[in-house]
Amino acid sequence: MPMLTHIESAVRQRYSQASQGKVDALCCPVEYDRNLLKAIPPEVIERDYGCGDPSRYLRPGETVLDLGSGAGKICFIASQVVGPKGRVIGIDMNDDMLALARKHQRSVGEAIGYHNIEFRKGRIQDLALDLEKLEADLQAHPIQTVDSFLSAEARADDLRVREPLVANESVDVVVSNCVLNLVDPRAKTQLFDEIFRVLRKGGRAVISDIVSDEMVPEEMQNDPELWSGCISGALTEEGFLNAFVLAGFYGIRLLKWDATPWQTVQGIEFRSVTVEAFKGKQGTCYERNQAVIYKGPFKEVLDDDDHWMERGKRYAVCDKTFQLFQKEPYREFFEFIEPRSEVPLEGAQPFVGDGMRIRHPKETKGQDYKANTSSSQCCDAGNCC
Ligand SMILES: C[S@@+](CC[C@H](N)C(=O)[O-])C[C@H]1O[C@@H](n2cnc3c(N)ncnc32)[C@H](O)[C@@H]1O
Repeated sequence: MPMLTHIESAVRQRYSQASQGKVDALCCPVEYDRNLLKAIPPEVIERDYGCGDPSRYLRPGETVLDLGSGAGKICFIASQVVGPKGRVIGIDMNDDMLALARKHQRSVGEAIGYHNIEFRKGRIQDLALDLEKLEADLQAHPIQTVDSFLSAEARADDLRVREPLVANESVDVVVSNCVLNLVDPRAKTQLFDEIFRVLRKGGRAVISDIVSDEMVPEEMQNDPELWSGCISGALTEEGFLNAFVLAGFYGIRLLKWDATPWQTVQGIEFRSVTVEAFKGKQGTCYERNQAVIYKGPFKEVLDDDDHWMERGKRYAVCDKTFQLFQKEPYREFFEFIEPRSEVPLEGAQPFVGDGMRIRHPKETKGQDYKANTSSSQCCDAGNCC
């Protein structure tokens, strides 16, 4: 663990300064959709400290949460992608960045023809705590003694439960652009858990961030300049993907991996990646006599629920897995086999067995199935075989 005890205040100071004017050292060239930039004021575009573009993976109608929204550029782009039926919430802990984003919120809304964005003050590793509500509370009850400190902590806990900044399972997509690396390493696990908490089942995270190809040594982690410059807090590329696994996500994949590093420091390469991860593998497994075939191209695969499958074989899966494989990012890799007699979900028995087992075609068709059919459906003018 780094000795740097004030990571967060170093980050806050650096981004207060960066909100007042462009800081070149914090910029990483990113290509955004130019059409979507037209409604965004130059002051916001020039204070772009992102390293990727998660907004290009959004869809109309989605509710999006942007972690570390800064001057608001990703929120302003996302607002146009999700359209008037979607919503965008930007979270930042820095007052100056929030003020800059809020200053332009109305004019962007007027330019695009609707208002679907809010900016909220919070720390992304503690998405339940509304820092503006806490601020108001502390003004009413200033902390002067240990007792008043302890009661403020208790009131903060109460706020998290009664008026959370972002409620459980309230968001379709969590995006972030170059911010997760800035979070204190001791809070990184909590950060990924919070992303998981606020996503609804079936939701996803699309995160652009800086990762390193080797572990960042301790002396680099102790340098506040490198910390706030998106270097020292970078997870390794493997560690970044694994953090999603540990939080309970599935279907995790690299949507983008920059071949050219953004910076190289002491031989360690720091590059931008965009990762997508899905929530929804948790839940009860019911037996409905369904099977899947993994189509390839790999000889065998293992998913995030430890289902190991060989190409071309029919595997028995529970209803939950069957439904999951029919969605992104899996569906293109599978064929799906429903039983000839449907097993209704109400009344279905729990799925038995830990490992994967082959499902014999007779289980799907029924032991008594003895039908004969002609080949008419598969051929044009009867010239097949
Ligand atoms: C590198 S800038 C990225 C800003 C923005 N995403 C963009 O694309 O321009 C990092 C932003 O994250 C905010 N930030 C850093 N750590 C944070 C934390 N723990 N909680 C909330 N915001 C944080 C900073 O205040 C700053 O606005």
